[in-house]
Amino acid sequence: MLGVCYYPEHWPEARWAEDARRMKALGLTYVRIGEFAWSRLEPRSGQFDWGWLDRALDTLGNAGLRVVLGTPTATPPKWLVDSTPRMLAVDRDGKPRGFGSRRHYCFSSDTYAEQCRRIVTQVGERYGKHPAVAGWQTDNEYGCHDTVRCYCANCREGFQTWLQRRHGTLDALNQAWGNVFWSMEYQDWSEVELPNLTVTEANPAHWLDFYRFASDQVVAFNRLQVELLRRLSPDRFLAHNYMGFITDFDHFRVAEDLDVASWDSYPLGFTDHFYLSDDTKRRYARTGHPDIAAFHHDLYRSVGRGRWWVMEQQPGPVNWAWHNPSPAPGMVRLWTWEALAHGAEVVSYFRWRQAPFAQEQMHAGLNRPDYAPDVGFFEVEQTAREMATVPRGDTGRASVALVFDYEAEWVLSIQPQGREFSYKAHVFEWYSAIRRLGFDVDIVPPGASLEGYALVLVPTLPIVSDAAVRAFEATDAQVAFGPRSGSKTAHFQIPQNLPPGPLQRLLGVKVTRVESLAPNLVEELRWNARPYSTRLWREHLEFSGTGIQAQFGDHRPALVNTGRFHYLACVTDAPFLMDWFESLASAAGLQPMRLPEGGRLRRRGGLTFAFNSDPESWKAPVPPGARLVLGDGVVPPQGVCAWGP
Ligand code: GAL
Repeated sequence: MLGVCYYPEHWPEARWAEDARRMKALGLTYVRIGEFAWSRLEPRSGQFDWGWLDRALDTLGNAGLRVVLGTPTATPPKWLVDSTPRMLAVDRDGKPRGFGSRRHYCFSSDTYAEQCRRIVTQVGERYGKHPAVAGWQTDNEYGCHDTVRCYCANCREGFQTWLQRRHGTLDALNQAWGNVFWSMEYQDWSEVELPNLTVTEANPAHWLDFYRFASDQVVAFNRLQVELLRRLSPDRFLAHNYMGFITDFDHFRVAEDLDVASWDSYPLGFTDHFYLSDDTKRRYARTGHPDIAAFHHDLYRSVGRGRWWVMEQQPGPVNWAWHNPSPAPGMVRLWTWEALAHGAEVVSYFRWRQAPFAQEQMHAGLNRPDYAPDVGFFEVEQTAREMATVPRGDTGRASVALVFDYEAEWVLSIQPQGREFSYKAHVFEWYSAIRRLGFDVDIVPPGASLEGYALVLVPTLPIVSDAAVRAFEATDAQVAFGPRSGSKTAHFQIPQNLPPGPLQRLLGVKVTRVESLAPNLVEELRWNARPYSTRLWREHLEFSGTGIQAQFGDHRPALVNTGRFHYLACVTDAPFLMDWFESLASAAGLQPMRLPEGGRLRRRGGLTFAFNSDPESWKAPVPPGARLVLGDGVVPPQGVCAWGP
């Protein structure tokens, strides 16, 4: 099922019917509208103009399209900002964020929450039961443009209240944070500031609680809208569109209130901005790194508890990355099939037509500003035709789980300890290595049940909850932990028994010292008599058991295991990770296979899909007797192939 993002308010009304007819003829089912239209819905305080949206909804509905209606709260209009200036967010340097783009609100502002309650109620009352409205998107991209953490007076007060709830007494807070250090002790809750504008770094425990607070504010903000829409718009699904590589709030928690997780997939911009070598960026500049969309598909399938969409799919060059090349021919089709193979219910393109005005005038759409179809349009046309002949099955459970934790990202960005240490890059390297071995992966939060998996990867998990320990203990899988796992308590202290804290029991290992290394300090790692390399991070282990699997150049243990629990004490690179995972997968009874660098597989229902982001064709591993439903078994560059029994 396909869809598109559309802005009727950007185009002459005389065009709408023709646009809707062409969407339908292209094979689209869903159209998302309205998420930035507050100034058109309520041009002045309390004066509503519904006429245009009534007609737009009718036009789209009459053409047979189903509408996802956005609540317009990401773009409060000028009159509202001027009348409630305390709703503006304040950045880390203490400067208020100005009007003139979007997302200029503070999640903790009661006055803004009241305005949101008002507009969502109005829109919900008017359209909640409209026959064309299939579902809702709350707001737009929480966290985009660095907007989760705000440093205003509302947040300061809100944080103080939040801290009282969490710690109970000031003694407990002073103790938990270790405020005796540098005379940071508080005598009154009102003394607690936000952790910005300090001379040097603030207390990491202070930061972590602030990050948790800011994340909770997003959950509460979203919940306010959800509660209204559930009542005003029964039987419609509720979704939010999350982003790529944005981790400033706990997406799992926001999603608990929603029906569908959706995300906005811009593989070329993400590749341009991500922690990848220049060579890798050059290689995948026009295709996107082969794991970048896939990683998020697997993450959001889990965030949405199985129900997820791509709400915005890149259709051509975008405007916001450092560089904005054109996708290689075929990529819009490949990205669509890839999302569907990972289990997406719907792939919706951003946007129907390129706008000739304002901030995103350089962002392609399916149609050009002169109304003619653009390149992406024809790829969607082809994909829609093909979809009619390819059956869609259930996604099922993968054999490999990878544990992903928003809090881990907060801890490691607050205290990287080595400048280049990045949680996102580290997790992505583990994900990429296991995907190169041909496996489907479920990305799960810590504490989720791990039953049924053969192999569990935990790239790192600094704070290990009791629930997480129980889940590790309960699975029969081979479980591989990476460095810095169990290295902090919930209050951001070093565990009393030293890292890996509660995991010592499973692993029989104690970390007595850690080192971070500059990128040019690459050292040897030996495993099975073969040389590999370690970089950025290594740990000194005390290990009493016998399972020393790999050693550093100085013969200290680098990889140890106790039964099915494994601990890797360093950051390493793809050759080691792939060899190690291959052996773990074999020990777990799985059949790894080596894919070409840009080749990937993904199963859905009885079908296996093969994708190719390499410049050379690839012969897919189609078993004898299988029935090809897409392609001929040789996957061309930017091509897709699929087969089933
Ligand atoms: C998304 C956003 C859209 C549009 C798009 C451009 O982040 O939700 O409104 O800005 O990016 O690529």
